[in-house]
Amino acid sequence: MLIQLCYASTRKDHQELLQDLSDILTTAVRFNRLHNINGVLYYAHNSFFQCLEGEKEVVEQLFEGIKKDKRHQDIILLSKKEIPNIQFSDWSMKYVQSNKGVDLFFKAKNYEYFQPTKLNETQIVEFIQHLLDAEEVTLKKVSEDAEVFNSSPKGYKRGYISYI
Ligand SMILES: Cc1cc2nc3c(=O)[nH]c(=O)nc-3n(C[C@H](O)[C@H](O)[C@H](O)COP(=O)(O)O)c2cc1C
Repeated sequence: MLIQLCYASTRKDHQELLQDLSDILTTAVRFNRLHNINGVLYYAHNSFFQCLEGEKEVVEQLFEGIKKDKRHQDIILLSKKEIPNIQFSDWSMKYVQSNKGVDLFFKAKNYEYFQPTKLNETQIVEFIQHLLDAEEVTLKKVSEDAEVFNSSPKGYKRGYISYI
């Protein structure tokens, strides 16, 4: 049985943001590809939103591991349901960078900014569709940006703001 599980969480300070994102995506892409898991990850305003899709047992087991991850906290399950087919079939883990479209989406729902835990069931479905249509940022790009950020003397890179 295929399921889709979506949750939100709060980022915990660990390493630099870009390094954490790059590490998380590297692990996710490798593991998910091997275990037929698909999904999407969005990060902004110190919050993660992630959907995992795949066989129920595999997704649930992965989620148990993700819940223990020290890079985030306050994990809140937003939805878990059986699905007829995988929505994010093109991606083992699509990463969508913080963007104005999402801000507008939340503003239209009377939330000042990206606050995934505020969404109701219908709005979650809408938000997932939004992420499905959104532009992807490749793991390669995130890793390269993390590398440039780490090697720059002030730990500053133009464009870093777009990850926040
Ligand atoms: C927000 C977030 C999303 C994650 N998504 C995935 C994912 O989709 N797939 C995955 O294998 N690991 C993901 N991870 C990493 C896992 O939590 C964990 O580090 C990984 O499964 C390795 O666990 P292990 O060291 O216990 O084997 C994610 C971590 C975070 C913080």
